Amino acid sequence: MRRTLLCSLCLVLGLLWVLCDKKPEPPVAPVPATALEDPWPLDLLRHLGPLPPLPADPTNSVADNPAAAHYGQWLFFDKRLSGDGEVSCATCHDPEHGFADTRPIALGKALGERHAPTVIGSAYQRWLGWGGRADSLWMQALGPMENEVEMAGDRQDIARLVRSDPLLRQAHEEVYGEIPKDVDTLFAQLGKAIAAYERLLIQKDSPFDLWVRSILDLPGGDPTALNEEQQRGLRIFLGPGRCTLCHLGPTLSDLEFHNNQLPTHPDGPRDDAGRYRGARLVQESPFNAAGPYSDAPEGEAAKRVRALVQSSESFGEFRTPTLRNLARRAPYGHQGQFPDLGSVLSFYNTLEDQDLRSHHQEQLLQPLRLDSAALGALEAFLLALEGRDLPGHLVQAPVAPIRD
Ligand code: HEC
Ligand code: HEC
Repeated sequence: MRRTLLCSLCLVLGLLWVLCDKKPEPPVAPVPATALEDPWPLDLLRHLGPLPPLPADPTNSVADNPAAAHYGQWLFFDKRLSGDGEVSCATCHDPEHGFADTRPIALGKALGERHAPTVIGSAYQRWLGWGGRADSLWMQALGPMENEVEMAGDRQDIARLVRSDPLLRQAHEEVYGEIPKDVDTLFAQLGKAIAAYERLLIQKDSPFDLWVRSILDLPGGDPTALNEEQQRGLRIFLGPGRCTLCHLGPTLSDLEFHNNQLPTHPDGPRDDAGRYRGARLVQESPFNAAGPYSDAPEGEAAKRVRALVQSSESFGEFRTPTLRNLARRAPYGHQGQFPDLGSVLSFYNTLEDQDLRSHHQEQLLQPLRLDSAALGALEAFLLALEGRDLPGHLVQAPVAPIRD
């Protein structure tokens, strides 16, 4: 009698357990058992690394000028550029945090609409910002200074500051000669100095770079730089993960825009137009590559921005972020939707939380259905994209706007 009671109790408990348990484990994608012995797809790997030299920016004549970079570094940390003297670029692009923000949604003068991404490696990008509202680093830098929820400054006040502060004035003149009378020209020059600094924020020689050099028979390689798990993760990244459909190129970004239909963050807007709005903003701005402040108004970047067409297809698209140097810059996604890498990967794995309201669904994404060991390997590979630390002198405000 006792035994039957016990048994039925077990049965009920078992049934409850089965009923309450989450969905059964998703079937695992067919990662071929021989995957580890397969030859590496060298052509694909050549597209990923090693990190090549930075492309030139002809729209900015001081892009690679060391005095400009030093002055720009000062400006990056100078809170006086903001309306209330409380906010600098580094407030949201925190050097301690991979030049990104710890908050999901950026908070300057007020709460913004998007997550502040990293600035490290942005110089490789073609369009800046999640929606690509700028076509150069210098144009991008001008936005936040006057944006009401970011620094809420004013170019007239900033010009007055540069003219009246003896050190700023001297630094400005050292780079550009006499301070221009036209405020917009001066404003663009500030952006160009900041861009020169940002071009130095590149973390080279990640374990992946060292390893890929050895696979591609390039000098400076190290075949042991990726361990077995990381190599397995790379196999998944290149193969069943289908990540290189978008994360291709030396920053592991195709530099283009896609709609992954990420869930929205509770503090974020529900209908961010993304690229749809970004394409219009960049084309309308006098500070774009084709405009009067560009140093190459007939160059490639100018042709690109002139050729842009604002298409409704691009509503809700965001730029593919770089996957280099992920470790320090959580949270992830354009609204900081994902607190950690694990949650990004489980999104891709099931696509369960996708926000399916938008009609233009990105057809490229399919649930990966990887098991937890495969997801762990993928994450281990992503963390092997962490480059060497930046030199200490670049991650803090310099002592003065002018070099000794
Ligand atoms: C209040 C927070 C905040 C401040 C202050 C701020 N930013 Fe940003 N930054 C953001 C956000 C949010 C984005 C994403 C914007 C978008 O998607 O349009 C961004 C994007 C960027 C990007 C684009 C990175 C990429 O790869 O696309 C760069 C570069 C950048 N900011 C530089 C600066 C500079 C330079 C300053 C100072 C002049 C600055 N930011 C001030 C929040 C901030
Ligand atoms: C269809 C193109 C596409 C594919 C395929 C894709 N991604 Fe992405 N990925 C993006 C875009 C676009 C974003 C930014 C989305 C957003 O914020 O709305 C992103 C964001 C991310 C982020 C967050 C990075 C950050 O700085 O916020 C990670 C990590 C990531 N992807 C990894 C992967 C991995 C790993 C794979 C393969 C399993 C993959 N992605 C497949 C386009 C893609």
